[in-house]
Amino acid sequence: MTSALPYANGSIHLGHLVEAIQTDIWVRYHRLRGRDCRYVCADDTHGSPIMISAQRQGISPEALVTRMHEEHLADFAGFAIQFDNYYSTNSPENRQLSEEVYRKLKAAGHIYTERVRQAYCPKDGMFLPDRFIRGTCPRCGARDQYGDACEACGATYSPLELGDAGCSLCGSAPEERESEHYFFRLENFTDFLRSWTRSGALQTEMINKLEEWFAAGLKSWDISRDGPYFGFEIPDAPGKYFYVWLDAPIGYMASTRNLCERLGLDFEAYWRRDDVSEVYHFIGKDILYFHTLFWPAMLEGAGFRKPTAVFAHGFLTVNGAKMSKSRGTFINARDYLAHLDPEYLRYYYATKLTPRVDDLDLSLDDFILKVNSDLVGKVVNLASRTAGFLEKRFGGCLAAVYPDDEGLFARFVDAGDELAELYESREYGQAMRRIMGLADAANRFVEDRAPWLLAKDPGKKAQLLDACSVAINLFRLLLTYLKPVLPATSARVEAFLQAGELSWEGRREPLVGHTVGRFSHLMVRVDPKKVEAMLQASQAAGGNEGKPGPVASSPGESQKEEPAAEIGMELFGQVDLRVGRVEAASLVTGADKLLELTIDLGPLGRRRIFAGIRLAYDPATLIGRLVVVVANLKPRKMKFGTSEGMVLAAGGGGKELFLLAPDAGASPGQRVA
Ligand code: MSP
Ligand code: ZN
Repeated sequence: MTSALPYANGSIHLGHLVEAIQTDIWVRYHRLRGRDCRYVCADDTHGSPIMISAQRQGISPEALVTRMHEEHLADFAGFAIQFDNYYSTNSPENRQLSEEVYRKLKAAGHIYTERVRQAYCPKDGMFLPDRFIRGTCPRCGARDQYGDACEACGATYSPLELGDAGCSLCGSAPEERESEHYFFRLENFTDFLRSWTRSGALQTEMINKLEEWFAAGLKSWDISRDGPYFGFEIPDAPGKYFYVWLDAPIGYMASTRNLCERLGLDFEAYWRRDDVSEVYHFIGKDILYFHTLFWPAMLEGAGFRKPTAVFAHGFLTVNGAKMSKSRGTFINARDYLAHLDPEYLRYYYATKLTPRVDDLDLSLDDFILKVNSDLVGKVVNLASRTAGFLEKRFGGCLAAVYPDDEGLFARFVDAGDELAELYESREYGQAMRRIMGLADAANRFVEDRAPWLLAKDPGKKAQLLDACSVAINLFRLLLTYLKPVLPATSARVEAFLQAGELSWEGRREPLVGHTVGRFSHLMVRVDPKKVEAMLQASQAAGGNEGKPGPVASSPGESQKEEPAAEIGMELFGQVDLRVGRVEAASLVTGADKLLELTIDLGPLGRRRIFAGIRLAYDPATLIGRLVVVVANLKPRKMKFGTSEGMVLAAGGGGKELFLLAPDAGASPGQRVA
């Protein structure tokens, strides 16, 4: 299973998360059913925009790509997206596979070359992608339009048709130049694609779209770009590079290969043989052409298996409109995570997702309402108003025999079959509605029995136990059904129930005579003030809408800071800097920026340190890593416990925090500098 590979030159935003969450729910659902599935993805690293973006920042494209990879990984981890491998298209596996695909296509006669006239900027010394040329629309005369289409009248054209065209990097007038390009004969695959399209791999709306394309006739595809270009050089064609969209989907295979090499799995079983495995791609509707025409044709031509299915989703709007920087609705993953619980968004998207290509709206008022009334009001509440009685009056022990619940438990178990079908067919919205219907029934039962009244009457102890036992058992089933959507909450519920992992099959038997643990807070209500704060942060950050803008000044240029007063070596020498090894790392409930770390300082012993690096690092990735620690910092009492030292990191804050390089060859306790 795959999600489309996000471009490495932008941050992960709530639009990307529609797809990641849709895929992740499907992956988690299948895992819950005990199926052997792997979720692979990667950063899409090649192309002119990334090269230019790196140039502007004064760094190499490789450095940019590495930095964004860490950032993307942390963002996805923040939303509990459970990749088996999140790789990069700028990898040796991808180069090798791209060359292999190309050579096979070439050998079979599917590649030809042709000279092409294109806009070239003599000042920048490069051919300009359409999006890097601006000028006057030849149809309506609107000024400052992109080289491929006019935003004012919708006309599409070649950049050479623009009036007074200018290079968007340097402003100078581009000239026409000719160069040789490599083309893939997509039209050779027309018959194959017609039959693949109808093989059940595609949604109906997509088939209709494809019919239009077939009717218009398939055309050859330009797969080369001239240097300078950040990408893979085409074999035997010096100075020519694969267009980013050639090696991007091959990145799915490269990520799989890298995973297989790490885990000792069989790559061929995934990508050659469709009798032993299935391949599913989740994509947005904007990249349909690549995934339903070019990609299967490339696979066919190069002798690989084809995707079992391609699932396309629509686009995210926020408050009914396209995400917008100025309205603050272009929300980056990190800005969301700094203010709100990721489980809210996972649930909200689930309520809105369908197997169709419809757009979906994040209406923030509806978001607050739905999360509060469904998750907090119906689900969490079911346990929070019964677990206390169970704990205080019965030592947490559920009734020894499952009580009469008017058939509710049986009804809940049966619903599992229907819910399985809904998850399987990606009808998440319907599944959520069905689950909330069950939650309503459970709450009606509790209201009927009114344990808070039973608790006042010493003669009704047995009835109280029965009511609470039913409520907790129904709660357990609800969380089993919600587990693909709410991984963190269900993990907390597993810890509370102390009956192993919630599993689809395990739902059939109620818990009886079993002692549950202490019920702790599962989820707080969405605070509208935090939603507001998130919007303000997004507005301030100004988000990146993915358009190449004017040359940005390098960060730090504008902020002049007064240097701090000088200190001598004696004072600096008093700071005891040591290498430490992270032994354990965990999230701190109620503190969205903190991680609790246990650090081994060798001869100095072990320390508990709270570090504000949660946004930048997934705790699991820290175990075993070396860090620099201020070992003689006076212990500080914090809200969550005492912190016995400080871990040093550098960077701009938030996600941009870098610890000591992972491979620093040092041992715990060693002095630094
Ligand atoms: N790099 C290509 C994909 C290559 S796959 C071999 C790309 N990257 S992207 O970063 O622009 O988008 C990644 C995915 O996120 C795409 O499937 C895209 O449709 C999806 N989304 C990006 N913005 C989106 C919304 N606003 N709403 C929903 N999904 C959107 O395309
Ligand atoms: Zn230029």
